[in-house]
Amino acid sequence: MASSSSWLHLLFLLCFLWMNLTVKCDIDEEDTLLQDINKYRASLNLTALTKNDNAECLADEIADQFKDQPCTNTTGANTVPGTEPQIADYPNLLAKCHLNISNTGDGIVMPACVPNLVPDLVLSNYTKSQYSKNLNNTKYTGAGIGSDGNWIVVILTTSTPEGSYVTDKSNNAKNAASLLSKIGLGYNLLFCLIGALLMF
Ligand SMILES: *[C@@H]1O[C@H](CO)[C@@H](O)[C@H](O)[C@H]1NC(C)=O
Ligand SMILES: *[C@@H]1O[C@H](CO)[C@@H](O)[C@H](O)[C@H]1NC(C)=O
Ligand SMILES: *[C@@H]1O[C@H](CO)[C@@H](O)[C@H](O)[C@H]1NC(C)=O
Ligand SMILES: *[C@@H]1O[C@H](CO)[C@@H](O)[C@H](O)[C@H]1NC(C)=O
Ligand SMILES: *[C@@H]1O[C@H](CO)[C@@H](O)[C@H](O)[C@H]1NC(C)=O
Repeated sequence: MASSSSWLHLLFLLCFLWMNLTVKCDIDEEDTLLQDINKYRASLNLTALTKNDNAECLADEIADQFKDQPCTNTTGANTVPGTEPQIADYPNLLAKCHLNISNTGDGIVMPACVPNLVPDLVLSNYTKSQYSKNLNNTKYTGAGIGSDGNWIVVILTTSTPEGSYVTDKSNNAKNAASLLSKIGLGYNLLFCLIGALLMF
């Protein structure tokens, strides 16, 4: 009796660790950049940016669009102001991330292209480029970061309604999407349990 329940405990523990690992690997570069940006802000006596999940979702979608473009001296942080690339399908991306354009206008989208997303270079692409004026700005209070391939996208959000990136309550899409992500997590646990059972 006792031994079978401790096997079960071990199983759950292993699954829990494995899930944490698979989820964490994915977001490491982004977390590192947010921490680094917040250290930079602290050195300027500015408040830390808090993580905004909807902005992160949009940043991921935008990085996904950029991922096949090569890094050049006119892309990402090197873009000449006024020649920023257009984001295709923007209204759909907003909808996918449960956002309404009336809550995103004051935010700012900053894509950077760095081969292999080397952390030091990524950070300096934000702190030592035209983007630094946004990082220095007290009006931004939150951030969402997404990456894909050599591209990383930082979106800064404000604490005013126009840039808050709050979840749009005016349509029902959000419920479907959050349900989907819960199902995804459930499947992950299920596969893990089956996998672990087969191993023993
Ligand atoms: C930050 O605040 C400290 C203590 O108030 C001050 O000594 C320092 O000069 C400030 N730094 C900047 C960049 O404003
Ligand atoms: C970008 O690179 C091209 C060739 O690689 C060069 O001719 C151009 O001057 C560079 N532009 C800037 C802004 O550095
Ligand atoms: C955005 O919000 C406004 C006001 O709440 C609403 O009228 C509009 O339909 C929303 N747009 C979308 C695409 O949901
Ligand atoms: C940004 O990253 C590129 C690599 O794509 C690097 O060559 C460049 O020096 C970086 N820019 C800054 C301002 O750090
Ligand atoms: C942002 O602040 C840093 C540190 O004070 C400074 O070096 C940089 O020039 C500022 N950026 C802009 C665009 O003002």
